Amino acid sequence: MAGETLILALESSCDETAAAVLRGEREVLSDIVASQAEIHAEYGGVVPELACRAHAESVVPVVEKALKKAGAEVEELSAIAVTQGPGLIGALLIGLSFAKSLAWSKNIPLVPVNHLEAHISAAFVEEEGAALDGQPFVGLVVSGGHTSIYYSKERGSYRLMGQTLDDAAGEAFDKVAKIMGLGYPGGVVIDRLAKEGDPNRFKFPRPMLDKSEFDFSFSGLKTALRTHVEKYMGNLEGQELNDTCASFQDAVVEVLVTKTFRAVKSSGAKNLVVCGGVACNSRLRQKLAETAQKRGVNLVIPRPRYCTDNAVMVAASGRQRFLAGIRADLTLNAIPTWPLEE
Ligand code: KG4
Ligand code: ZN
Repeated sequence: MAGETLILALESSCDETAAAVLRGEREVLSDIVASQAEIHAEYGGVVPELACRAHAESVVPVVEKALKKAGAEVEELSAIAVTQGPGLIGALLIGLSFAKSLAWSKNIPLVPVNHLEAHISAAFVEEEGAALDGQPFVGLVVSGGHTSIYYSKERGSYRLMGQTLDDAAGEAFDKVAKIMGLGYPGGVVIDRLAKEGDPNRFKFPRPMLDKSEFDFSFSGLKTALRTHVEKYMGNLEGQELNDTCASFQDAVVEVLVTKTFRAVKSSGAKNLVVCGGVACNSRLRQKLAETAQKRGVNLVIPRPRYCTDNAVMVAASGRQRFLAGIRADLTLNAIPTWPLEE
């Protein structure tokens, strides 16, 4: 029976309204994402009220599209999985309310999902990730809202090893991009400009590289970059801009890679999963792959589409939880701060 599950999943925790249909463990029948990036771009970050309005407008068409593309009828679904938290409360409530009404009206099991566990679950949709099932791994979740390292003895059980003490890595990318006037979300722009830049041109701090074993801090790096940009009095452009992006990115990547492999070594795990929006970063992917190869660590990073917010990852986590018997009723409420390790 397990291989025959058909899961509809909804994601609305931040600025993407997404729905997906997953058959069995890894067969993605549809994967629809309505991004609000353009709406938030002029503010340089997510505006919660605008996010809620856009989710409310998109949720029905996005779910309809996902079901249609999958060729699935609501009546055939094994369960509806929905992100319960962490995230923006108003944004979460839109996905939750819709999922609850659909599940209730059609009498389909409703399964609440943790957004961070969903990010990790994206790895198990990939072929090389599926091979990890049942084995211990270290997971780095690196996104716009989170930068945390977990030890997982097996899927579904997580121990927090380290986390950021201030900004998340993606937040640092976005804030620094805003300082340089590069638009929102900034990570992808910095990644692109950095390809034409020299990462050794400017020396930015590597916060807490030698201290606090597995914790991160990115706010000092952001301040260093602001001071650097101010020196150019609004004229940071061309090669200087590319070199600044490359040097900043290098600092973030070095800290992420060093701490993550330190955690892998200390845990004794042979497997590493890296996920979340920042896991799209080309330099991070390259440095992780090089280091994993050198140290004989089995590395799984989901394809970029499954790293940024999407509903396939929610379906993958939802399926696990559905099979474990986890169900929600109509009292289900959003949990804006829901630690993964609970
Ligand atoms: O996982 P995600 O879509 O949403 C959260 O759960 O936060 O992550 C979004 C974050 C943004 O901060 C964005 O700038 C960053 O991921 N990001 C990147 C890249 N692509 C997305 N950061 C660095 N390099 C990239 N290529
Ligand atoms: Zn996310």
